[in-house]
Amino acid sequence: MEKHNFVTIADITKEKILYMIDMAHEFEKHPNRELLKGKVVATLFFEPSTRTRLSFETAANRLGARVIGFADPKVTSGTKGETLKDTIMMVANYADVIVMRHYIEGAAQYASEVSPVPIVNAGDGAHQHPSQCMLDLYSIYKTQGTLEGLNIYLVGDLKYGRTVHSLIMAMRHFSPTFHFVAPKELAMPAEYKLYCKEHGIKYEEHTEFTEDTIADADILYMTRVQKERFSDLMEYERVKNVYILRNDMLAKAKPNMKILHPLPRVNEINYDVDSNPHAYYIQQAGNGLYAREAIFCDVLGISLDEVKNDKTI
Ligand code: CP
Repeated sequence: MEKHNFVTIADITKEKILYMIDMAHEFEKHPNRELLKGKVVATLFFEPSTRTRLSFETAANRLGARVIGFADPKVTSGTKGETLKDTIMMVANYADVIVMRHYIEGAAQYASEVSPVPIVNAGDGAHQHPSQCMLDLYSIYKTQGTLEGLNIYLVGDLKYGRTVHSLIMAMRHFSPTFHFVAPKELAMPAEYKLYCKEHGIKYEEHTEFTEDTIADADILYMTRVQKERFSDLMEYERVKNVYILRNDMLAKAKPNMKILHPLPRVNEINYDVDSNPHAYYIQQAGNGLYAREAIFCDVLGISLDEVKNDKTI
């Protein structure tokens, strides 16, 4: 079988996105199965994570696989000078699939080129976060009933936020209108605005963030200002509290508008928003389990038909 990685959202087709959403829906109905019985999943996290690592590991466990790996590269032989290439080739001796988060942009692509087993990108620097993108797409589809023609507001750190970069690419098939809400220091990079132009994606840019700005949003996608990506911490201090969503800013929101956030949050969403029916970020993180079960099946060659006809439930 040809090796199948999950490294970028850039080349994923519309049909594949809808197929993966169908698969995630099957897993939401029955998360516990034996489809990966006998398989070993490795999770290599060179950067901190709570949701991504734990939901991948939960997905592996719920599908009957066993899990090896590390959450902190300081406990590995990387500290003795072992290269990423050698680490990947060693782990591929032990595991059937490798889930990797790395701080270097392009690290997952590189790993996929040297690995004999499938690589799943769990985030590479400020570049891409394709598994987060799948759970975002699933969350949008579940809450809106469609991915077509939505008004999507991306708010906060659009410069370093890899989740918003992946979401723009995935949504190119569905005629969205994006609204980029960011201060100039954290504006959407030129390469992604160029991507929008090349793919006919409508977008507007805003620096104001008020209840009027977001009144026509279907999806309000908040992001954290990513302190760890700033080389100048003074600049981080200047922008860290630039936009804070409060409950009273939601009075004019459309009835079915949902607030997403990849999490973790720092203080960009007040806790008084959590009980508002527009808040969806905790359920969104929960959807990560089903999306990641679908990703494991996809890279390991298990089809939607096999999932639907699975007798291990
Ligand atoms: N959304 C996300 O990537 O969260 P973690 O950093 O906790 O994995």
